[in-house]
Amino acid sequence: MFEGNLSPTEVLVCQNRSCRKLGAVKVLVAFQALPVPGVTVTGSQCLGQCGNGPMVLVLPEQVWYSRVHPDEVPAVVERHLRGGQAIASMIYRKVKQ
Ligand code: FES
Repeated sequence: MFEGNLSPTEVLVCQNRSCRKLGAVKVLVAFQALPVPGVTVTGSQCLGQCGNGPMVLVLPEQVWYSRVHPDEVPAVVERHLRGGQAIASMIYRKVKQ
């Protein structure tokens, strides 16, 4: 499902209460510090996956990352946003509908 080259255009970083308690502000700041042309980074409302945060959703391919640490953000930016390859080991697969 996540094979091949991805072309992300938007990154949502949940900034709602549960994710903020788990460090989502620093994750958002880390993404904002590494801007990628053509990719918008937005602090979002609750993404409906509370307790697994900080949650990050990459669109349009809908790749979810959970428990993202600020130190992991450069790898996401380099490999996924710039390189077009999702980081399999960080993907959150139990998305609650
Ligand atoms: S508070 Fe972040 S997913 Fe709900």
